[in-house]
Amino acid sequence: MSYTKDDILREGKTKIIRCGPDEESLIMCYKDTATAFDGAKKEDLAGKGKLNAAISHKIYTYLARHGIETHLIGVIDDTSALVKKAEIIMVEVIIRNVAAGSFSKRYGVAEGTALNNTVIEFSLKNDDLGDPMINESQITALGLATLEELAEMAGQALRINELLSRLFAQAGIKLVDFKLEFGRSSGKILLCDEISPDSCRLWDMKTHEKLDKDRFRGDSGNVLDGYQDVLGRLKNV
Ligand code: TMP
Ligand code: ASP
Repeated sequence: MSYTKDDILREGKTKIIRCGPDEESLIMCYKDTATAFDGAKKEDLAGKGKLNAAISHKIYTYLARHGIETHLIGVIDDTSALVKKAEIIMVEVIIRNVAAGSFSKRYGVAEGTALNNTVIEFSLKNDDLGDPMINESQITALGLATLEELAEMAGQALRINELLSRLFAQAGIKLVDFKLEFGRSSGKILLCDEISPDSCRLWDMKTHEKLDKDRFRGDSGNVLDGYQDVLGRLKNV
C-alpha cells in the first residue's frame, strides 16, 4: 500500500501510526529500525519490519483464537496492519519466566537461572527516563491506570504468558521474558503494540541460543537470522 506523509499521526522508534479508513481504526506500519537501550543504539536492518510484522500477526491471531482481545483488526500488507484505535496506557507489563536482562543485573542472578514463580513487573513507558520500574501505588498516584485496570492487565498478561509459552515450546523455543502494552478502547482493556523478537527474549530450548533482539543489544551479529528462525519455526506449529 502507498502512504503519504500527511497520514502520519505518530512516529515511534520502530513503528509509524497512520490515520485509518475510519474514526475507530489506525494503520500500524513496522519500520526496519532496530533500537536498544532506550534508543541510544540505533540501526536500520533491512527486512526487520517485515519479519516482526509476520511474527506479531501470527502471535496476535493465535491469541485472538484463544480468547484474548487485541487491537488487531487485520493485516494490510507485509509491513502494516489495521488496528483498533486505543488510548495507550503508559505502563508496560513485563513477564519473566527465567532470569535475564535487567532482572539479572538488578538482583545479581546469572542469566538462565530458573525462577520459583513467574515474575510480573510494571514500568513507566518513557524512554527519556529509561522506562523505570514503577509499582501499583506509584501508578495510581500518577493517575496512569486504576487498580482495576492494573489487575485486568496483569491477569491478561499471565494468561498470554501461558498461551505463548505453550506456542513457543511447540516451536522448540523457551519464552524467557517479554513486554506487553495495553490500551483503552470502547470501555475495554485491549492488548496493543506488537509481540516479536524485539519485545521478547526467545532462546532455543535445547542450546539456549538467543534468537531475539539480545543479538542486536550484544552486537553478536546475524540479528535477522534469529528473527527468520523464529518465524520459520512458528510457521510449523
Ligand atoms: P529487560 O530485561 O531489559 O527489563 O527486558 C525485559 C523484556 O522486555 C525483554 O524481553 C525485552 C522487553 N523490553 C521491551 O520490549 N522494551 C523495552 O523498552 C524494555 C526495557 C524491555
Ligand atoms: N525498547 C528499548 C529501545 O528500543 C529498550 C531495549 O529494548 O533495549 O531502546
